Amino acid sequence: MSTLFSTYKIKSHTIKNRVVFPPFVNFGWSDDNGNVSEKHLAQYEAIAKGGAGLIIVEATCILKDGRIFSYQPGIWSDEHIENFRPITKACHKHNAVVLLQIHHAGLATRKGLSEKVVGPSAPEEIERSHALTVNEINQLKNDFIAAAIRAENAGFDGIELHGAHGYLLSQFANSVVNNRTDEYGGSHENRLRFAKEIIKGIKQATKSNFIIGYRMSGNSPTLADGIEVAKILDKENIDLLHVSHGGEKGIIPEVPSDFPNNWIVYCGTEIKKHVYTPIIVVNEISTPERASWLIDNGYANFTAIGRDILCDYEWVNKAQRNEKIDFCISCKPKCKRYVKPESCPIIIGKSRKEAL
Ligand SMILES: Cc1cc2nc3c(=O)[nH]c(=O)nc-3n(C[C@H](O)[C@H](O)[C@H](O)COP(=O)(O)O)c2cc1C
Ligand code: SF4
Repeated sequence: MSTLFSTYKIKSHTIKNRVVFPPFVNFGWSDDNGNVSEKHLAQYEAIAKGGAGLIIVEATCILKDGRIFSYQPGIWSDEHIENFRPITKACHKHNAVVLLQIHHAGLATRKGLSEKVVGPSAPEEIERSHALTVNEINQLKNDFIAAAIRAENAGFDGIELHGAHGYLLSQFANSVVNNRTDEYGGSHENRLRFAKEIIKGIKQATKSNFIIGYRMSGNSPTLADGIEVAKILDKENIDLLHVSHGGEKGIIPEVPSDFPNNWIVYCGTEIKKHVYTPIIVVNEISTPERASWLIDNGYANFTAIGRDILCDYEWVNKAQRNEKIDFCISCKPKCKRYVKPESCPIIIGKSRKEAL
């Protein structure tokens, strides 16, 4: 049997296989106060029941004015603790380990959601943008730590810091965006200082068993930078590095022609060569064959399967039983779930069949 179904221990948590459900915002399902809904609960329970070993709950904002969209879940208030608890309980009921992705959009914060848009620097092209002062960075660090404590109180086994896709933490890491000349800009070490301080603070404030993961940009802006970023995070003894892309400012690396996955997965496999931290690779892995190839050959410790699990919650159970999976059809120009989850053609097809 493929090592895809072998266990992996992180701290005292045994993850029952190497399949991760990556963070996925359900556009339109949260209310304006950042509360998750019954739809979220049903979805995460189905994914846990379907066999995913590790579930990372979608980008959840640490501050109301750091959201990218008004309907993004929030963890900025103690009131969110009870709101999330049914999700953590449901995941645990089906033996899934569950993390919360904590997020601040930084310069990508949507117009109308906050008076000013903050980041490491203030680019001219972004209206109302403001370069964070050191005092403000310290305040934000405390907000990230408070969010992690709330996640722990809600029953999450850990958090994942969202440091990819061009949001606040990846804005700090990226030399194209971060033009600071103080201790938070310049060298890779300086650009990662904010992330390192958050990690240290979360470690001090949470139980020793609490998992700390980091979703990073493999190309920030280049793969060589991604490797440097990973090496710095590796020294912080975090528990998971989840390698995705760096958003618009990232430069796409060349991939050897015999590599059977895309460049984002390639970044993850290259980064793995330089660190001890367990690596999650992601993006269009899609099939059990491709996922197994990555794990069996030691290119990654975990494979994340996003859209394909959303199209078939039973992906893991079916893969294990060698049954037919309903795969995502990779809608173009982009996934229709960016508008609303219900517009996915696979989900529409399934609801029609159920109605017959
Ligand atoms: C609708 C949608 C929402 C997403 N939400 C998040 C998110 O909350 N946080 C995050 O880091 N990535 C997010 N992503 C990226 C996914 O986690 C994942 O990296 C991407 O879909 C590629 O994996 P896949 O090909 O297996 O789906 C989102 C992607 C889509 C299409
Ligand atoms: S909307 Fe299209 S791309 Fe997105 S999950 Fe559904 S089938 Fe896949």
